[in-house]
Amino acid sequence: MRILVLHGPNLNMLGQRQPEIYGAVTLDEIDRRLAARAAELGCELAVCQANGEGQLVDRVQAEVGRCDGILINPGALTHYGLSLRDALVIPGVPIVEVHLSNIYAREPWRQHSVFAAIALGQVCGFGWRSYIAGLELLVAALKDRAG
Ligand code: DQA
Repeated sequence: MRILVLHGPNLNMLGQRQPEIYGAVTLDEIDRRLAARAAELGCELAVCQANGEGQLVDRVQAEVGRCDGILINPGALTHYGLSLRDALVIPGVPIVEVHLSNIYAREPWRQHSVFAAIALGQVCGFGWRSYIAGLELLVAALKDRAG
C-alpha cells in the first residue's frame, strides 16, 4: 500500500514558524514519525512538500495509478487552492486532510476548506499528532475497502 503525503506552502518552516500555533516539531521530524508509524502499519510513504500550488499539482498528476491514498496538509491552500483540489480527484483514491491547528477556532477565512468535500474526513487541532491520526485513519479505511 502506497500513500502520498503532501505538505503545502510554509510547512517546511515548522519549528520556526509560529510555534505557539503550529508547535516546535520540524517537518523532517514529522516525516520521521510518519515513516515509523507507516512501517508499523505496513505501508510505504511518498512524501512531497512544496511552496507552489503548481508543484503539488504536478506531483499529484505524476502519482496517478501509483498511490492508494493521499494524506494532505494543504497549508494556506486549504482555503483557496482550487487547482490542487481539482488535481486531487484525478487519481480517484481516498484523501484525508490534516491540520496542525484547529482551523475552526481561528480567523473566519481559515474556517473554510476547499478540500473538505473531497476528503474522507479531516483531522485538525492535534499538532503533529494530526498527521499520525490521519495516516492511521486513511490506512484503516483502505484496509476496510480491501476487505
Ligand atoms: C494549517 C492551517 C492553515 O490555515 C495555514 O495556512 C497553514 C497550516 C495547519 O496545519 O494548521 O499553513 O494547514
